[in-house]
Amino acid sequence: MKAVEVKHVYFKYENEWVLEDVNFSLEDKEFMAIIGPNGGGKTTLLKILLGFLKPTIGKVKIYGKPPEKNRLLIGYVPQHTNFALDLPITVFDIVLQGRLKKGKFFYNKEDKEKAKEVLKTLDIYNLKDKKIKNLSGGQRQKVLIARALVSEPKLLIMDEPTSAIDPKGQKEILDLIESFNITRIVVSHDIKILLRKVDKIAYIHKKAIIHEGPKLKIPIDKHFCEIELINFLKDEECLI
Ligand SMILES: Nc1ncnc2c1ncn2[C@@H]1O[C@H](COP(=O)(O)OP(=O)(O)O)[C@@H](O)[C@H]1O
Ligand SMILES: [Mg+2]
Repeated sequence: MKAVEVKHVYFKYENEWVLEDVNFSLEDKEFMAIIGPNGGGKTTLLKILLGFLKPTIGKVKIYGKPPEKNRLLIGYVPQHTNFALDLPITVFDIVLQGRLKKGKFFYNKEDKEKAKEVLKTLDIYNLKDKKIKNLSGGQRQKVLIARALVSEPKLLIMDEPTSAIDPKGQKEILDLIESFNITRIVVSHDIKILLRKVDKIAYIHKKAIIHEGPKLKIPIDKHFCEIELINFLKDEECLI
């Protein structure tokens, strides 16, 4: 069974098509990067994968079922959130919220253990009693990733997780995402994501062009910015 199947998906909010004939699939544990211009339809596609929006035409399946039937298998980190910035709740409470399900309003010991474990994995256990407003952008983003992971999803969907974060924080977050052994779909405005071990790349601008991940041996430990990337790639052939 495929982890994700998107077949002939079209979408419009009002009169104009925002997505046209989008097709791709992902195997379990694959990592897909989505790139493309602002307004190209990336966030809309994610909302369709999450079952928040229904395709106007076409079909989506997540682990064999329509997204709304398999919502519990999906962890989501939304774009640009000012989530909980004004609330007096702690990092630990926010992460625990990821364990809530329909009809479940309190936490048991297992929920708390899982929250601790995820905070440790992401190396932010020391922040557990802090308020979210007192954290840096990178720390906040890790908390939201922890909140998505604590439900033990099979598919993690992230919308621009490294925007508004300093380069060191961006690298840490991309290192983490790369290390997760689950299916991942990550929208990024930063083409350096293409230097990661991605299996597939979708360029979305109303239509989707799908590339296999490049198997490039690029030394990313030293300084490596878009200029070097362009120089590196100029002799490579685009397969599509
Ligand atoms: N709720 C909405 N109602 C109407 N149009 C929308 C709505 N959300 C997004 N759009 C439009 O759909 C297009 C795609 O938006 P979006 O999916 O957010 O793109 P991206 O995430 O690639 O920047 C844009 O033209 C945007 O203005
Ligand atoms: Mg977007």
